[in-house]
Amino acid sequence: MTDAAPVAPAYVRELAQYVPGKSIEDVARDLHLDPKSIVKLASNENPRGPSPGVIQAIVAATAEATRYPDGNGFALKSVLSQRLSVDPAQIVLGNGSNDILELAAQAYLRPGDEAIYSAHAFAVYPLATRARGAIGVEVPARGFGHDLAQMRAAVTPQTRIVFVANPNNPTGTFVPAEELRAFIASVPSEILVVLDEAYNEYLDPADRCDSVDWIARHPNLLVSRTFSKAYGLAALRIGYGLMDAGVADMLNRVRQPFNVNALAQAAAIAALADADYVDKSRELNRAGLAQLAAGFAALGVVSLPSQGNFVLAKVGDAGTVYQRLLAQGVIVRPVANYGLPEWLRISVGLPDENVRFLKALAVALGR
Ligand SMILES: Cc1ncc(COP(=O)(O)O)c(C=O)c1O
Repeated sequence: MTDAAPVAPAYVRELAQYVPGKSIEDVARDLHLDPKSIVKLASNENPRGPSPGVIQAIVAATAEATRYPDGNGFALKSVLSQRLSVDPAQIVLGNGSNDILELAAQAYLRPGDEAIYSAHAFAVYPLATRARGAIGVEVPARGFGHDLAQMRAAVTPQTRIVFVANPNNPTGTFVPAEELRAFIASVPSEILVVLDEAYNEYLDPADRCDSVDWIARHPNLLVSRTFSKAYGLAALRIGYGLMDAGVADMLNRVRQPFNVNALAQAAAIAALADADYVDKSRELNRAGLAQLAAGFAALGVVSLPSQGNFVLAKVGDAGTVYQRLLAQGVIVRPVANYGLPEWLRISVGLPDENVRFLKALAVALGR
């Protein structure tokens, strides 16, 4: 008789693993290409590399690598608290902002509860929801973006969380402040609204929402942000959530004691001190979006206006075009798993990387 294997609950067995963008190493190995010749525009990373100040802070922090990190992130929370005018007790640090999304789901969702999100919204919302045995309610998109009226209409007595990505990945769509604020005010106060602002720093400052200020009026609002994108620290895994202290208390109860490593905390503090890096990243991104948009237009390819550091382009048989780009050493992201089988998502690269991509795309499309 063979021993029985452990059985995960059905809601776990039914999950599909998150598929990340291919790494440069994967592609170099699979296609026997020189890693240096490969351009990766697949994971909405900052193409500039970390600033010298950040590298220094990381190296300095390695001296204490035998110690556990500060599980409460005192120093980083102090800087964020001053910067954002919130109490440190309103900040939860995460191993990436992904961790904040997971902690929110873990603290607030039980099996059978409902969480609402938009079609074509960030893939972690359904994953975090279903991993708790909760039910994901996907609301059809309007113009590729969030249809907030329909999302409000989808609220039921079982709803516990509503996820909103602003800007949204992968569509790059953006809901203006007034509309968003009215939506948050319309959601019953016992439902947690998770406003995911991973790409906030790429927005023109004039377009940003005062979302952090809304928390005082709406204690059911959680705003998540990250150091992975405009701050350029994706490898270190660090993000944060801003929320009412009572909500933060719940997330802290379910989080790992040392969920954010010491190098990441040190790097984040250094990154916050370097406003110039973020400003330059935003400028580079704006120029890159324009460069890509012009390139798509020249090739007769439809692309969506984007408020993020990436853009969606409609290429027809996206699976084939993706493979043809890979064969030329250019990695982008197919988004069929987002219900967009004809589209590819391209992260904005350095100017010469964007040129490499556009040339490869012309070849892939036979134009
Ligand atoms: C909308 C959105 N939210 C959250 C994340 C998670 O990023 P991280 O965990 O690196 O902070 C991403 C990453 O791509 C994203 O696109």
